[in-house]
Amino acid sequence: MKLWQKNTDASAEVDRFTVGLDREMDIKLAGADVLGSLAHTRMLEKIGLLTPAELEDVQRGLKEIYREIGAGNFTIEEGVEDVHSQVEFLLTRRLGEAGKKIHSGRSRNDQVLVDLRIFLRREIITLAGEIRALFDTLQGLSEKHKDVLMPGYTHLQIAMPSSFGLWFGAYAESLVDDVQLLLAAWRVCNRNPLGSAAGYGSSFPLDRTMTTRLLGFDSLDYNVVYAQMGRGKTERIVAQALSSVAATLGRLAMDNTMFLNQNFGFISYPPELTTGSSIMPHKKNPDVWEIMRGRANLIQSLPGQIALLTANLPLGYNRDLQLLKEVLFPALDQMHDMLHMARYMLEHVSVKEHILDDPKYDYLFSVETVNNLALSGVPFREAYRQVGLSIEKGEFSPSKQVHHTHEGSIGNLCNDRIAALMDNLLGQFGFERVEEAERELTRE
Ligand code: ARG
Repeated sequence: MKLWQKNTDASAEVDRFTVGLDREMDIKLAGADVLGSLAHTRMLEKIGLLTPAELEDVQRGLKEIYREIGAGNFTIEEGVEDVHSQVEFLLTRRLGEAGKKIHSGRSRNDQVLVDLRIFLRREIITLAGEIRALFDTLQGLSEKHKDVLMPGYTHLQIAMPSSFGLWFGAYAESLVDDVQLLLAAWRVCNRNPLGSAAGYGSSFPLDRTMTTRLLGFDSLDYNVVYAQMGRGKTERIVAQALSSVAATLGRLAMDNTMFLNQNFGFISYPPELTTGSSIMPHKKNPDVWEIMRGRANLIQSLPGQIALLTANLPLGYNRDLQLLKEVLFPALDQMHDMLHMARYMLEHVSVKEHILDDPKYDYLFSVETVNNLALSGVPFREAYRQVGLSIEKGEFSPSKQVHHTHEGSIGNLCNDRIAALMDNLLGQFGFERVEEAERELTRE
């Protein structure tokens, strides 16, 4: 039975093909769908489309469903098209007539829009916490190993001294910029599309400001046509933020894979965090980081996939949009897992000390030697030539003292200032307002 069904049955083949994976995807939207209905029905009562008694029944029924969702007791039944239909069917089954009234002034088109915004806000809140935790782990490692030097590379050739403090700290700072994109995605998600109905508004005198406030949104997507255009655009912007985090994780994964390699041997992991080979008994492979790298690369293709899926769609709702969930939702799950695993691995990483004692790294100090000569009054180009000549003659034997003092260098990482940037960004989201609105809507 479909919400839209009048007399004729839809072909089972059409049903199978058009519903596809939507039921599985929609389960994730169930909580958000009920939150949207809790706000929508309060607004319907205010404008006289539900009586106070009906509203009371409907609110009780919706909160009951919300609890069932929280307890994992909610399913989308066989033959029910999507989460929006399931919630409405449950209400009608339990309450009768009042349940049939809740869809006034609303279409599944704006319902799915608002569900996605509510759902994505929740995802972003979780992601921000996970990113913060990884950030703290990286900064902790950076501080702990700030005096341990390692080679720095350009062209993957040894270049200048670096440190584990710089290496770990760089990835922490990279996450700060990723959070900038997440904040932009949050701002786009935190606007209310509800009330745009099928995409062209409604002849009911809907109070969209009221649902905006009840759902804790910052403001609304005013223009009803634009509100519908937000489907796909919102997902693409969220995917761009995910892609940015993925790029950071992908590079971190590559570095870990490389530095664990015996030819580098800069880091190690306990054997239980590595995997073995079926034929080579000595193997301790970095499979976690390799899977991380691969997933990170796939997630970076997500904005492109979404752009293609939505390219040149005509204005208004198109069913193609349903498929956005199939690309975005699994990527969100994977991103949570990747952030968790990156942290899990890094909490067990060991770093090798005294790497630079090996004479093969002597040339890392060529610039230090030039600079020391320059400090003693030799013009830089002349100092460069002298050191170059001693290298060519095989006579170069540097002092391995490193004395870097400027902001962001080996001796002055500025991790506290980077943490302040992160704090400042996270403070701009305003998660509390959203949390409070959701608590108020669902209060028994
Ligand atoms: N499952 C649909 C989607 O995700 C819900 C909206 C359906 N609207 C419609 N007119 N068929 O897009």
